[in-house]
Amino acid sequence: MQLVDNAIKFTPPAGKVHLFTERDEGFLKIQVSDTGIGIPADRIEQIFEPFVQLDGSSTRKAGGTGLGLALARRIIEAHGSVIHVHSEESKGSTFSFALKIVSG
Ligand SMILES: Nc1ncnc2c1ncn2[C@@H]1O[C@H](COP(=O)(O)OP(=O)(O)OP(=O)(O)O)[C@@H](O)[C@H]1O
Ligand SMILES: [Mg+2]
Repeated sequence: MQLVDNAIKFTPPAGKVHLFTERDEGFLKIQVSDTGIGIPADRIEQIFEPFVQLDGSSTRKAGGTGLGLALARRIIEAHGSVIHVHSEESKGSTFSFALKIVSG
């Protein structure tokens, strides 16, 4: 939900947001990609810090508190996985993670 919320929030109205899910060899893979504003390479690590918003100005358009990705990363890591991000400024971003399916 958090990744989709961000994708929509940081993508202009004419852009696209894709949610892709796949069950693959005992894992559920989830990928959210957008054609939005992207994230500068040298700031990628910062976005997972609590209360960090790349546009911290009081005039920024997007709302929020900067907690979404920090929580998402902790939840994914608590399940023994990692979150990946690939992004290019002005082109878009892709966030992905996989969770092991536990049956029984
Ligand atoms: N898909 C994205 N495209 C571009 N920038 C992003 C994207 N997702 C996150 N960011 C950047 O990372 C920052 C932190 O994201 P995070 O989800 O933690 O906070 P938020 O969305 O600003 O607030 P909250 O999630 O608490 O509502 C965002 O403010 C934005 O600068
Ligand atoms: Mg968010």
